[in-house]
Amino acid sequence: MYPTDETIYLKKNDLDTPSLLVELDLMEKNMNRMAKFARECGVNLRPHVKTHKVPDIAKKQLAAGAKGVCLQKVSEAEAFAAHGIDDIFITNEIVGDQKYERLAKLADKIHLGVATDNAEVVKQMGKACRNEGSELDVYVDIDVGMHRCGVDPKRAASLAKEVSGEKNLILKGLMGYEGHVGSGKTKAERLRLANEAMRTVTEAKRSIERKGINVEVVSVGSSTSTWVTAKHPAVTEVQPGMYLFNDGGLVDNDVATLADCALTVLTTVMSKTSDDHAVVDAGSKAFQWDQGIFPRTRSPGVKMVKFSEEHGWLQLSGKGKGLRVGDRLEFIPQHCCTCINQHDELVGIRSGRVEKVWPVVARGKMK
Ligand SMILES: Cc1ncc(COP(=O)(O)O)c(C=O)c1O
Repeated sequence: MYPTDETIYLKKNDLDTPSLLVELDLMEKNMNRMAKFARECGVNLRPHVKTHKVPDIAKKQLAAGAKGVCLQKVSEAEAFAAHGIDDIFITNEIVGDQKYERLAKLADKIHLGVATDNAEVVKQMGKACRNEGSELDVYVDIDVGMHRCGVDPKRAASLAKEVSGEKNLILKGLMGYEGHVGSGKTKAERLRLANEAMRTVTEAKRSIERKGINVEVVSVGSSTSTWVTAKHPAVTEVQPGMYLFNDGGLVDNDVATLADCALTVLTTVMSKTSDDHAVVDAGSKAFQWDQGIFPRTRSPGVKMVKFSEEHGWLQLSGKGKGLRVGDRLEFIPQHCCTCINQHDELVGIRSGRVEKVWPVVARGKMK
């Protein structure tokens, strides 16, 4: 379904289901709140737009004050660039000859940056950019405690030196993504980990500067911890993504409430065979399942307790027992990014009516 004159007069409950919805008033509130916070902290906001994968939404974020965007994959960056986004930081390790070539080509068209934790990759990216005649910003990726990718801070200076030695690479700065400051931890533990991560990235920055190399940008920030880490003196840029919508994970991390969640999947009750059991027409195919936690609803007495691929199993109590086949229910995904990646379209709702239908342009871009 693409927006037409008829579509924009549709009411939310006229939509076929499952449909991925975003409440535009709430999304704009979340967007402006983070933009204002970053401004007040004196840091640039470079939102992670792999969260929504929609170039038009990125343009809204840029208009609200963001300085460029982040993505994870070369193919995502190519898709956004093709839709007019011209300042992209790929906050991920990019490895492989085809990808070096594509990076170098894209860097010729837009302002492009990439993270790295490997000296051989630096050489190969340098070579590809030399061949292409393009320049690429490079950020040394520091392991600040997540233990996913990123060099030990003690090795940051030698890697920065490798980058500086490549004619077509520009050492832009450091990335210290503190994605471990999240689920399953107490508030106090999250605060401790966030501060420790910022000490680690600061240590890495100083070690590079002692070699006489300038570190212009220190880019950090998840949607859980940006509220703390943006205030750290070494930080110049934050890169949260999910703050735009909020989701079950961010509710569990105490940085949002269910009322702040802008993204839902609209479903229809497709079966009700007993008082306390019903099934909606959306299961793992519509929500994804990477967090292993079921989506929640604001409707009373309704709890999703099991997925099949196309079925969401509901346990009903109290008011929920009154549900009937054909009733509509909205569910908030546990992880907004992976849920959006399941859908072709994102429907923008304002005051109960369809205002926008965005194709999820960078959906499924894995390479
Ligand atoms: C490197 C990096 N930066 C930023 C983000 C955005 O953080 P969040 O998803 O908490 O909004 C992610 C998300 O996975 C990430 O991997």
